[in-house]
Amino acid sequence: MTRTAPPTTDDLSAGAVVHTPAGNSEWWRDAVIYQVYPRSFADGDGDGIGDLPGVTSKLDHLKQLGVDAVWLSPFYRSPQKDAGYDVADYRDIDPLFGTLADFDEMLDGAHGRGLKVIVDLVPNHSSDQHVWFQEALAAAPGSAARERYMFRDGRGPAGDEPPNNWQSIFGGAAWTRLEPREDDGPVGPQWYLHLFDTSQPDLNWENPEVREEFEAVLRFWLDRGVDGFRVDVAHGMIKAAGLPDWEGQVSMVEGTVAEGDVPATDPGAPEDGSTGAGHNGPMFDQDGVHEIYRSWHRVLEEYPGDRCLVAEAWVEPLSRLARYVRPDEMHQAFNFSFLTAPWDAARLRTVVDVSYSTMDAVDAPTTWVLSNHDVVRHVSRFGLAEIGGRQLNGIAATDPQPDAELGLRRARAATLLMLGLPGSAYLYQGEELGLPDHTALPAEVRQDPSFFRTDGAEPGRDGCRVPLPWVGGAPGNGFGSTGKTWLPQPDVYADLAADRQYGVEGSTYEMYRTALELRRAEKVGGSTLSWVDALADSPDVVAFRVAGVVVLANLGAEPLVLPADAQVLVASGDLDTSSDAVAVPSDTTVWLRG
Ligand code: NOJ
Repeated sequence: MTRTAPPTTDDLSAGAVVHTPAGNSEWWRDAVIYQVYPRSFADGDGDGIGDLPGVTSKLDHLKQLGVDAVWLSPFYRSPQKDAGYDVADYRDIDPLFGTLADFDEMLDGAHGRGLKVIVDLVPNHSSDQHVWFQEALAAAPGSAARERYMFRDGRGPAGDEPPNNWQSIFGGAAWTRLEPREDDGPVGPQWYLHLFDTSQPDLNWENPEVREEFEAVLRFWLDRGVDGFRVDVAHGMIKAAGLPDWEGQVSMVEGTVAEGDVPATDPGAPEDGSTGAGHNGPMFDQDGVHEIYRSWHRVLEEYPGDRCLVAEAWVEPLSRLARYVRPDEMHQAFNFSFLTAPWDAARLRTVVDVSYSTMDAVDAPTTWVLSNHDVVRHVSRFGLAEIGGRQLNGIAATDPQPDAELGLRRARAATLLMLGLPGSAYLYQGEELGLPDHTALPAEVRQDPSFFRTDGAEPGRDGCRVPLPWVGGAPGNGFGSTGKTWLPQPDVYADLAADRQYGVEGSTYEMYRTALELRRAEKVGGSTLSWVDALADSPDVVAFRVAGVVVLANLGAEPLVLPADAQVLVASGDLDTSSDAVAVPSDTTVWLRG
């Protein structure tokens, strides 16, 4: 096999400084935050659905792993039409997940272990079972109750055409018409807007009552002691005046990019770092959203400690995303441009460069994320020939299946690269075990509304939401006491279970643990970052220096020979030691003592 010319130690010297830390000390600036998706994390009561006692029982796993904080997806009272992102009561726990006392116990347990806790806030829409929506249905058109949501008369003489042509992100029209009432106006029953499922009516954020209510909800959870909020659809709450028609279409994760538009090998990275992760249109990224976040910032400032707001905003270019984290607004925003970037050295460097330049300009930490509950896990994504298009949303049994070995190798390499980047990083439960998606879920078990609203054209996101394996080979791989799991686990989950990886050299779990330990010890999160000069334009290698560490990710086909005196701190895969000079194989990342 041919090898690239061996770099010498000089070859790893620092080049351009890409990022200098702000020098502030809030915990969230460099935190590694672990996403718990409660229904699939651990089941405390044996009903097959994870719950808060289950989370509490696994806090030691998180502590051992070495993360700083936990973000929990919604556990509020909800009919679960969108797995809890349809909230019926923002101040209570759904019986599926436990009680407020269970929440307090989980929070105390986390805080007792030095872990911060962030909860999910879903302000763009409520459930149709929320008391406000029920009141709106019972009230007359034009009433104060209807003013809390986005009700409009229909178009056409009989009002039987929707108020505009917007499509729901889950498929189908974004408007649903009410049943007729006696006091309907001349054009008959009104319609209500739902950017997501019919059961998720959009709230009217132009109405001061809505703003007051959510400030009270923030205080309710801040008073209980939470450390922050992840804000759902943070770019969607204000719609363009007049709700103009829009010809574009968005789906859950890939903005307006159609399948295949972002081939993994496309060398032409836009200079603004865009990857197709942005949602466009009159329902997104309107200037009016920012006043909401300024008021929330003020609410958080009333509380001691460094509480934070994290934006889930699919906004590009990154200079637009940076507006959400200006000093008086939110504190962090998920970096979906990084998540959606292809496995390509030049494109990754561009996203990293632009992420730092845009976030540093507003004094906010850059975040990094590779997986969450809305996208195909990166182990499966990187095993696909092409990343982009709807493959991010889910993989069906009839789709081309990922190459499992390639996917895991690249995913581990991508993770080690990500954890070497200063700023804050998000992990999604199970990625520390190297879990792939379930890519062959039968239609009968699917639950994601996007599957139903597109008549199965979109497989939906269930594949990345499969219950975690804790004890390999036990019923349900130890998810709970009864073996029940609300979605079936793929066979491979037995071998990937947590207990089969604890203490096992080379396991994905031990790689994550080692990297997190080093990240903390070396203070990587708060470090300056410089590209390694000699490799700054390499088509195959992403190489940078952070703190006392050199991170080298080899994305090329050829092994990369290390300097003779290189001290390897952690590697994402086996190194090539077949000759005197150690080499980093294809799709492998190493951290070296710098
Ligand atoms: C984003 C959430 O992450 C997703 O799971 C949910 O379906 C939508 N927002 C709607 O709340």
